[in-house]
Formats: sequence, C-alpha cells, structure tokens
Amino acid sequence: MVEKKRIIAPSVLSADFAHLAEGIRLAEKSGARWLHLDIMDGLFVPPITFGAGITADIRKSTSLVLDAHLMTQNPGRHLDSFAQAGVERFTFHLEAETHPHRLITAIKSRDMKAGIAIVPSTPVAMLSELLEFVDQVLVMTVNPGWGGQKLIPGTLKKIRQLAELREKGAGSYLIAMDGGFCQSTASSVWAAGCDMAVMGSAFYGADDAAAALEECLNAF
Ligand code: DX5
Ligand code: ZN
Repeated sequence: MVEKKRIIAPSVLSADFAHLAEGIRLAEKSGARWLHLDIMDGLFVPPITFGAGITADIRKSTSLVLDAHLMTQNPGRHLDSFAQAGVERFTFHLEAETHPHRLITAIKSRDMKAGIAIVPSTPVAMLSELLEFVDQVLVMTVNPGWGGQKLIPGTLKKIRQLAELREKGAGSYLIAMDGGFCQSTASSVWAAGCDMAVMGSAFYGADDAAAALEECLNAF
C-alpha cells in the first residue's frame, strides 16, 4: 500500500543534459510530482552543474514541483535568481551558510518553501534551533557531489531522529533524503520515516524508469 505522503523526486543530475527536455518528460510520464535540481558551484562540491538560467528554462517546460538543492557556497547569493526562475522549494546546506535562520526567513519571504540540508558528517543536533522554522530537512545519505554513490547506512538514523523530533513537536518539516536511493534501499528509507526521496541514477539509469519509480514507491 502506498502511503499518501511518500514522494519520489527524480534528479535530473543523472539525465542526459543534451536532451534535458526528454529527461523532464520521463519524470512526468513516470508519475513523479517533483523534480530535483542539483545546483553545484565547483566550490562547495567539486562539480559544476547549472544555475538559475537553465532552471528558468526548465520551469517553462514543466509544472512539476521544482525542488532546488543548492550545493553552493553563499547560497543566499542565488536566492533572488532562483525565486525569479520560479522554483517552489529552495534547500541550502547548513555547512555553507553562517546565518541559516536569516536565510530561511528570506526564502519564505519570497514565497518558496525553505529547506536545510546536512552532509553525512553533520549531526541532527546542529539543526536544533532551526527545525521549527524549516519546511524541509534534506538528509544527505551520500557525500554530495555525484550521483550513483552507495547510501551510507549510518545516515538513516538521522531520518529516524528527525521523525522522532517532529513527533515531539520540534516542527512540521518534511523529511527528505538524497543519495543512493534505489530498489534495494527504498524499504529501509521509508521505514526510517522518510517522506521524500531523491532518485537520480536508479531512475534515469533504469531500462524502465516508471517501473523503477513505482517499485521504490511501493517498497515496504
Ligand atoms: C548528490 C546529489 C543527488 C544525486 C542523487 O550530490 O545531491 O541529488 O543526484 O543521485 P543518486 O540517486 O544517483 O544517488
Ligand atoms: Zn540533491
């Protein structure tokens, strides 16, 4: 039985960028409601992907919920351009921002949902003063930078901790994970209490992406 809350966001990072429109169509046709956009600046992580300009073009071509994941230094620098590009959700890394509370407030004031991401070495405790303000917490289950990595099992405890904290009233955030989500890890991810999973290589690398997504959505 599919729990209503479960969301899978295909990540275009693993799509063919020379045929991005096809990658977007594939996500739509597979029943996805969200599309995950990995924005890398070559500083916070070594690779460089794309920015607000290409994101604005993606916006014009789809009505999927655009979930921008900023793996950049100074994420606030990109806030206005991504707001103008029309993303619904703007997630930045705690490790990349000195004033996360201020940035969360600024994201919300631009009518976007505010997300905060943590790398595998950052504990949930570092979020204690922020949980009540954020709309989404993104637990990185691999070290950010590349698709196709294996999920680090120890990171799943952070999903459980966030679920327990939410249960106790710490906030009303959505719990998201990113990295190594596939048919063999989906059940443990959902069991930990995850609401939204990013699916890159296991989606775009599948022979039948729609079937792969469906199988992961229904994993128990
Ligand atoms: C990693 C990115 C992920 C990535 C996930 O830095 O944030 O969104 O695309 O890819 P898979 O699902 O292949 O681990
Ligand atoms: Zn991501």
